[in-house]
Amino acid sequence: MTSSKALFTPTLTANLSRAASKGLLCSTATSTGLRACCAGLRPFDAQSRRHFSVSRRTQLDFFPPPKNLPHIKLTPPAWPHPEATEEQLKSIEIAHREPRGFSDRVAYNMVRFLRWGTDLATGYRHDPDKPYVMNERKWLIRFIFLETVAGVPGMVAGMLRHLRSLRSMKRDNGWIETMLEDAYNERMHLLTFLRMAEPGLFMRLMILGAQGVFCNGFFVAYLLSPKTCHRFVGYLEEEATKTYTFAIEDLESGKLPEWQNLEAPEIAVKYWNMPEGHRSMRDLLYYIRADEAKHREIHHTMGNLDQAEDPNPFASEYKDPAKPHPSRGIEHMKATGWEREEVI
Ligand SMILES: [Fe+2]
Ligand SMILES: [Fe+2]
Repeated sequence: MTSSKALFTPTLTANLSRAASKGLLCSTATSTGLRACCAGLRPFDAQSRRHFSVSRRTQLDFFPPPKNLPHIKLTPPAWPHPEATEEQLKSIEIAHREPRGFSDRVAYNMVRFLRWGTDLATGYRHDPDKPYVMNERKWLIRFIFLETVAGVPGMVAGMLRHLRSLRSMKRDNGWIETMLEDAYNERMHLLTFLRMAEPGLFMRLMILGAQGVFCNGFFVAYLLSPKTCHRFVGYLEEEATKTYTFAIEDLESGKLPEWQNLEAPEIAVKYWNMPEGHRSMRDLLYYIRADEAKHREIHHTMGNLDQAEDPNPFASEYKDPAKPHPSRGIEHMKATGWEREEVI
């Protein structure tokens, strides 16, 4: 297996330099929004004197923990990733839950608006009627930016439910852990991609701004209507599943040659427990897509429940375990979420 170091900036920088020589880099970017972050992610170029990364690589070298500590042997993940078969990973599909009612429509239109803004900002376009504009670097910009945002809702929802449980002195019925696990899983996506590319200063500033706005906005929105917020995240995850499906299709149709034989970083191999022979970039995208589809199922389901009274169906034991029911894994996944009467 290739060490994760090998996938770090030098490899990508070399790859990107090649892409640059083919005229791929930033050629399609406009001057708006995040596209300007190209400057930070641009590989070394003698004319511009800019590096792919403006950050010291050591900043990201915090995982795994330093070796040979006097007392600590290993720090395993707090939420080990559930196992998934190749068949299950490949069975994931793009899906859409039709909005029902005003709250759903607010959530859906909000996601459509955000998607439009993010597409514009990250220079993303995936329109079969227009020339293909994506490449490995553009995908990574998009993945990294999206994953920094994706880890917010689970943490905010978990924190607010935790605080509500404390101040109302009532049980939470198992939702908090699933929300925190969701945030943890999204952060693992981010940490994985950071093994392949390191954002520059401008992109870091954009991420900072986006987090400030999104975190506070989601905090207030979750206090006002948690149901709408879960539906919103459900729709967001529909888009994430779509994004990774398109990336897989591009890779498999030969549009992303640099990723054809790329191996997944070590952090990913360990976290997803990727079996020998299934540790490529392609396999990694299948794992991440399945995670996004799982979040889609979880949040659409939670959007169907009574926020204050219902137990978390993903952390419950069922009277009839033989009947398919929500779980931590992807063995019985429902793309558009479980209806309340099916699970409670
Ligand atoms: Fe993610
Ligand atoms: Fe997600």
